[in-house]
Amino acid sequence: MMKTTKEIYNSTAANWDRKEAVLLSDFTARPFVMELCEPLQGKKVLDLGCGEGFCSRQFMQRGAASVFGIDISEKMIAQAQAQEQKQPLGIQYEAGNAVDLERLPSDTYDLVACVFLFNYLNNKQTRQVMSGIRRVLKPGGQFVFTIPHPLYAFLRDNEYPFYFDPEGKGYFSGRDHTFMGEIWRRDGMPLQVQSVHKTLEDYFNALAATGFDKMPFIKELRVEDKHLEIDRAFFEPIYDMPLHVAFSLINS
Ligand SMILES: C[S@@+](CC[C@H](N)C(=O)[O-])C[C@H]1O[C@@H](n2cnc3c(N)ncnc32)[C@H](O)[C@@H]1O
Repeated sequence: MMKTTKEIYNSTAANWDRKEAVLLSDFTARPFVMELCEPLQGKKVLDLGCGEGFCSRQFMQRGAASVFGIDISEKMIAQAQAQEQKQPLGIQYEAGNAVDLERLPSDTYDLVACVFLFNYLNNKQTRQVMSGIRRVLKPGGQFVFTIPHPLYAFLRDNEYPFYFDPEGKGYFSGRDHTFMGEIWRRDGMPLQVQSVHKTLEDYFNALAATGFDKMPFIKELRVEDKHLEIDRAFFEPIYDMPLHVAFSLINS
């Protein structure tokens, strides 16, 4: 039987633990997310699906006033808290489901970030989370998220250093189906990931339905020449492919 997201992350939490860029997407996605969120000085940040806190720590180190990280996996939260104990930054972490944000007060956060969270949620859950985010964001607050590029699963075989297996489903017929995949660390270790498939239109429709009705800024993220200079063998197999998409919206 297919493992739940919580089970996957509880059983692999130790392998996600990192203090510096290690995973493919630590190079191809997260640095751009950080740039999108700048300036962070003085901001109240909510990091949904924070994992072991890789992005939460960077938000704090870049000057956020506070960071609250929520993740469904208690083991990922335990890793985040262990790092916080070793090197206190003042980040608050809690195990919880991003679908249930009712307990959080309205109009509170300057920035809500979801770095590869929505690929664990189906269309209905995605809308629930976006609607919660719109409520807890201050007017004028920013919502930043990244997802695997919806086309990527269909462009790449099940190979190093990153893939999702659509198991014969198509771009449209695969909607809300879970594609299992792997993403590699540069040290050669693969990590199990999932993509509950949604089309690009699904994301735009979910945003519009939950009140994010202005055009988002989007960037299709990829391997760049600077990555090849770091490690050609690692990045070259997926050069010129659309890997992830980053979105940024302002809450009106
Ligand atoms: C790919 S990891 C990314 C972690 C972190 N954002 C980062 O960039 O390193 C996805 C995380 O989303 C969490 N997650 C999945 N579904 C969730 C949900 N419904 N509520 C909260 N967290 C969830 C997983 O437990 C996992 O830690």
